[in-house]
Amino acid sequence: MNKKVITSDGSYTFYIEELDEHFRSKNGAVRESNHVFIKNGFEFWVKLNKKKNKCFIFEMGFGTGLNCLLTLRSNIKNSLLVKYNSVDAYPLKISETLDLNYEDFFKNETLSFLYRKILTSNWNNQVRIMKNFILNKNITKLNHFKHKDKYDLIFYDPFGYKVQPEMWTIDALEPIIKCLNFGGVFVTYSSKGSVKRILESFQLFVEKIKGPPGKREMLRAIKKI
Ligand SMILES: C[S@@+](CC[C@H](N)C(=O)[O-])C[C@H]1O[C@@H](n2cnc3c(N)ncnc32)[C@H](O)[C@@H]1O
Repeated sequence: MNKKVITSDGSYTFYIEELDEHFRSKNGAVRESNHVFIKNGFEFWVKLNKKKNKCFIFEMGFGTGLNCLLTLRSNIKNSLLVKYNSVDAYPLKISETLDLNYEDFFKNETLSFLYRKILTSNWNNQVRIMKNFILNKNITKLNHFKHKDKYDLIFYDPFGYKVQPEMWTIDALEPIIKCLNFGGVFVTYSSKGSVKRILESFQLFVEKIKGPPGKREMLRAIKKI
């Protein structure tokens, strides 16, 4: 069961009892998501793959749908066809997510409308959120998800190592890394040495790059061969 709690900056967030973990606070979440997954993930991939006109994304951990919305927002200026697959084993209720008031942050009617469309779209179904943005969110644990596709970009966003050590092992990472296309990019907020070594063991080119505010470094891996 999820519980609503007030964070140090006065906004609301959620606590997942089963995992004994909180979601990031609103301001922290938007900053971190933009830095890790948009600037160093989606926008980096777009620069690296200028000739491609579609991008297939896999996200581990749909959560509040924030990464999804920020990707859609960034793509308004790129106008690529984006297919966005995501999994979550402990989905938040729509009302819970709206309580976080991310919409205030954007102060934009179109984005608010699209965010609600993302949140209310059926699980385990492919839904067209915009002409060039197709979402498929799945209620499942990562290790039960059968990958049928190859991905250009992977957003690896489970809870941290202290709470979910099993998500940062070769067993968890191998099936998704094996689905990465050539020129594909994997990003995560973690900078853990053991995770870097796992990524390198699959011949990915791995960089420790500057992290979001409050975190020194993060990891980005590219499939070059
Ligand atoms: C850090 S939050 C993700 C935040 C999210 N990307 C966003 O934009 O709000 C981690 C998410 O991973 C989900 N999760 C944890 N363990 C999982 C597992 N084994 N399989 C699938 N989802 C899992 C949690 O329910 C939670 O929503």
